[in-house]
Amino acid sequence: MSTPRSGTRLRRWFSAALLVGPAIASPQPPSPLPDGDGKALVERICAQCHSLDTVFRSRRTRQQWAAEIDKMIAKGAKLSDDDIDVVADYLASRFGASTRN
Ligand code: HEC
Repeated sequence: MSTPRSGTRLRRWFSAALLVGPAIASPQPPSPLPDGDGKALVERICAQCHSLDTVFRSRRTRQQWAAEIDKMIAKGAKLSDDDIDVVADYLASRFGASTRN
């Protein structure tokens, strides 16, 4: 059915995909977290009770993040006062909400 021309194009697409594929599909998925102060804390503390997806599904302002972290501490998250600031800054700058919505 297909013309020789489209067959060649398909083969070319295939070899391109084979070349590029491995570079994209690295065996270890990269950490979903952007770098920054607080990243290690979030990975260590906030993944203890739920997946980090739970944390990043929603966007919050700095104030809302601080309140959320307070709630997590009430549930049992172990964070010092200094840690709270670092994590709230980190989350607000990476997963912040604009105050317009
Ligand atoms: C001691 C256990 C625990 C720790 C540690 C913890 N959480 Fe939670 N978190 C919960 C529970 C329980 C819920 C509610 C049930 C759920 O969504 O899984 C929750 C829900 C959430 C939600 C969704 C709330 C909503 O209303 O949408 C966010 C966001 C969140 N946590 C952020 C964090 C962050 C940020 C940290 C790290 C500072 C953290 N959590 C650490 C227990 C914890």
